[in-house]
Amino acid sequence: MMTSTTNHYTFGETDTAAQRLALLAAAYQPATRVFLDEWGPREPEHAIDLGCGPGYTTRLVHRRLRSRLTTGLDASPRFLQEAQRTPDAGIGFVCHDVTQEPFPTAPADVLFSRFLLTHLHDPGTALRAWAAAARPGARLLLQETAWLRADDPTMIRYYELVAKLQSGYGQSLEIGIDLETCVRSRGWKILSSRLAVLQQPAEVMANLHAMNIRTWARDRLVQASFDLVEVARIQAGLDRIAAGAQPAHPVSNAIRQLVAVAE
Ligand SMILES: C[S@@+](CC[C@H](N)C(=O)[O-])C[C@H]1O[C@@H](n2cnc3c(N)ncnc32)[C@H](O)[C@@H]1O
Repeated sequence: MMTSTTNHYTFGETDTAAQRLALLAAAYQPATRVFLDEWGPREPEHAIDLGCGPGYTTRLVHRRLRSRLTTGLDASPRFLQEAQRTPDAGIGFVCHDVTQEPFPTAPADVLFSRFLLTHLHDPGTALRAWAAAARPGARLLLQETAWLRADDPTMIRYYELVAKLQSGYGQSLEIGIDLETCVRSRGWKILSSRLAVLQQPAEVMANLHAMNIRTWARDRLVQASFDLVEVARIQAGLDRIAAGAQPAHPVSNAIRQLVAVAE
C-alpha cells in the first residue's frame, strides 16, 4: 500500500460522519470537561479550538474557560456550516487548514485540540504553526488516543484496519503514545503529560465505529487495497455489538492529555 504525504481527513464529511461526531462528543465530553477544568486558564482573552468539527468542543471550551472570544477552526465547510447553525455570543468559526500559517485570527491565549493530530501526516509542522498563532506564555491543551483495547475479535480487527488505513495516509491512530516527541522542540514546553484510561461501553464504541466504517469503506485506499468482503463483515459485526445483539466487554481507551506552554 502506498503512503500519501498530503493531509487527508480519513473519516470523511458525510452526514453520517457529522452524526458520528455528535455521538463522539457525548462519549468524550466528561473526560474533556475534567481536563479543561484542571488545566485550562480561566477567562482568557482568546481561545482557539483546532479541528473543531461541528463545534461541540468549541462550545465546551468556551463554557468551561469562560473565554472572551473562542474561535473554532476547521478545514471542513460542511462541519462549520453545522457549527454555525446555532449562533452563540463570543464564539466564531473560521474555515482554515490548521497546518498552515498564518492563522486568520487574533493570537491565542489558549489552543485546544482533540482527536485532530491523529489525522495529520506531519503533526510536528502543525505544532510549529500553532506556536506561531500563540501569544507568549499561551497554553496548549491536547487530547489524543494512545491506545484502544478490546477483547471482541470484531473490534480488535476494526482497530487493525483503521490503523492500516491511517498509516496509508502517513497518520497514526495511536499518536497519543508518542505525542511528547511531536510537541518537543516545536515552540512548546511541556508542563504535563498523562494518560487517562477510559472504559467506554462496547455498544457506544461499536456504534461510533459502524458509522465510521460506512464512510471510510468508500475511501480510495480501502477500495484499492483492502479485502472489501472482510470490511463488510466487520461492519455487520459492529452493528450487532452496537445493537446489543452480541454482548462485548467495554473498550479500554487511553487518552494522552498533554499540556504545554508557548516558549
Ligand atoms: C475527529 S474530528 C474531531 C472534532 C472535534 N475536535 C471533537 O473532538 O469533537 C477531526 C476534525 O479535524 C478536522 N481536520 C482534519 N484535518 C484538518 C486540518 N488540516 N485543518 C483543520 N481541520 C482539520 C476535520 O474536518 C474534523 O472536523
